[in-house]
Amino acid sequence: MQYTEAKITKLLVDFFADDFRRIDHAQRVLFHSKNIAIEYASADLDVVIACALLHDVGIKPAETKFGYNNGKLQEEYGPAIAEELLQSIDFPAEAIVKVKEIIGNHHSPSRYNYVELEILKEADAIVNKADSLEVPLT
Ligand SMILES: [Fe+2]
Repeated sequence: MQYTEAKITKLLVDFFADDFRRIDHAQRVLFHSKNIAIEYASADLDVVIACALLHDVGIKPAETKFGYNNGKLQEEYGPAIAEELLQSIDFPAEAIVKVKEIIGNHHSPSRYNYVELEILKEADAIVNKADSLEVPLT
């Protein structure tokens, strides 16, 4: 797909509006996801990009509905939003299915044998670890 990263970045920014913390997090996860993906020839880069940028969209409805969010709520609410956003840019249907499965599984033991799921988990862990440091490095 042409301009995948630019198109999904726009979806991300429009969705999170002025929640710059979430936008920043997604961008950093994307950076690491792309670096990790270099090691995996079989990775579908469009799926890697979509998962990195949209993996936490479930945070917004969870916080609106419950006043907080956690991994389980992100997994529950994220996939449907990602689907709607990706359909709006004509992202391939079979890739949307994979992105939804990955977003719905990114905070729990892997139920799918997808390299893109492992890439997202690794990149997310790097960024979250960096955020736990006094001076974030990533
Ligand atoms: Fe994340």
